[in-house]
Amino acid sequence: MKILVTGGAGFIGSHTVLTLLEAGHEVVVIDNLVNSVVDSLERIEELTEKKIMFKEMDLLDYEGLLSVFAEGRFDSVVHFAGLKAVGESATEPLRYYRNNVAGTLNLLDCMQETAVHRLVFSSSATVYGASEAVPLTEDSPLEAMNPYGRTKQQIEEILSDLSASDPRWGIAVLRYFNPVGAHESGRIGEDPKGIPNNLLPYVAQVAAGRRDKVTIFGDDYMTEDGTGIRDYIHVMDLAAGHIAALDFLVPRTGIFRWNLGTGRGSSVIEVISAFAEASGRPIPYEVGPRRPGDAAVSYADPTAAFTDLGWRAHRNLSQMCTDHWGWQEANPEGYAKTADHAPPASCL
Ligand code: NAD
Ligand code: UFG
Repeated sequence: MKILVTGGAGFIGSHTVLTLLEAGHEVVVIDNLVNSVVDSLERIEELTEKKIMFKEMDLLDYEGLLSVFAEGRFDSVVHFAGLKAVGESATEPLRYYRNNVAGTLNLLDCMQETAVHRLVFSSSATVYGASEAVPLTEDSPLEAMNPYGRTKQQIEEILSDLSASDPRWGIAVLRYFNPVGAHESGRIGEDPKGIPNNLLPYVAQVAAGRRDKVTIFGDDYMTEDGTGIRDYIHVMDLAAGHIAALDFLVPRTGIFRWNLGTGRGSSVIEVISAFAEASGRPIPYEVGPRRPGDAAVSYADPTAAFTDLGWRAHRNLSQMCTDHWGWQEANPEGYAKTADHAPPASCL
């Protein structure tokens, strides 16, 4: 298939682009590079020895986007592009709604205009809010608790309405749990700007000596060791889930929703220990207050994805930490300081 990937230079997008290329698909990436660099795509070209067509493009540029679709003749779209920082979404809600919701509307309009009706959308376990009725199934109530989460929930509603309005659409909504890890080559990985918001990249930077210690956000939850529990999933397993969803959609229409998680929860303390073990480095930590809005426990029931798609996560926490560390150690400052001079990704 010829697949348009929005946000393909980012963390999950880049690993999925690599997986799509390896599965024999042709890939066109659009990204405005607001939270990524084109080096990720260049490295994927090196790893796969395949070409990626890249166009720097903002989803809010409707005319530009339409011209990409008019030239592209795409079979499917995988839609990662979006802003994702929970805290920032509370201080800049309009930017988040405009970028994520209005950007998605532009994308859907262009798809409709050029008769592309197959879409895989990046949703998030954040749509379940702080529900503690675990494991979370696709039927658990949706109650996003911050503007970022509400953009995901609103987009899911828009996609439901769209599917109901026109039977030609085939839509997969993938609710990711906590994506971590990196490609086993250590050449691509997560490259957060500034201080990481999420646990794994923070722990990795402590292991690398870039930060002094991890602050554990509360150890008084009703869990075995008192720290928060999450369903960490290796980004390469997540990438494989997109291929499975696309394969599922090819002969079908309608809208489908799947949790992509391992079904196993790990506490903050377990993650810190696993990372110390994988990296061979000490990870000093201290306990601080709870982070507002955090659920105590969140993990998926991934049964539906296995039943429908035959997909399940294969890599465990130790593998996630080993691969995350492989990337962090080889690229201590992310892409910026280690970028070599590979030929640029092809331009449209
Ligand atoms: P990321 O920031 O690394 O990737 C998103 C990409 O989209 C970036 O390359 C960014 O430059 C691009 N982008 C943002 N707005 C754009 C716009 N208007 N036009 C064009 N490009 C734009 O994030 P990620 O972790 O790879 O997440 C990918 C998707 O998965 C996002 O939609 C995110 O909300 C969702 N998600 C992520 C997580 C997570 O923990 N990483 C969890 C659940 C869901
Ligand atoms: N945590 C710490 N210290 C830190 C960072 C996190 O103790 O420095 C704890 C949190 O309290 C939580 C766990 O580590 O218990 C995981 O926190 P993350 O910030 O890594 O992940 P969240 O589950 O809070 O949220 C992430 C994304 C959301 C997404 C969600 C589900 O930030 O956008 O996963 O996919 F929706």
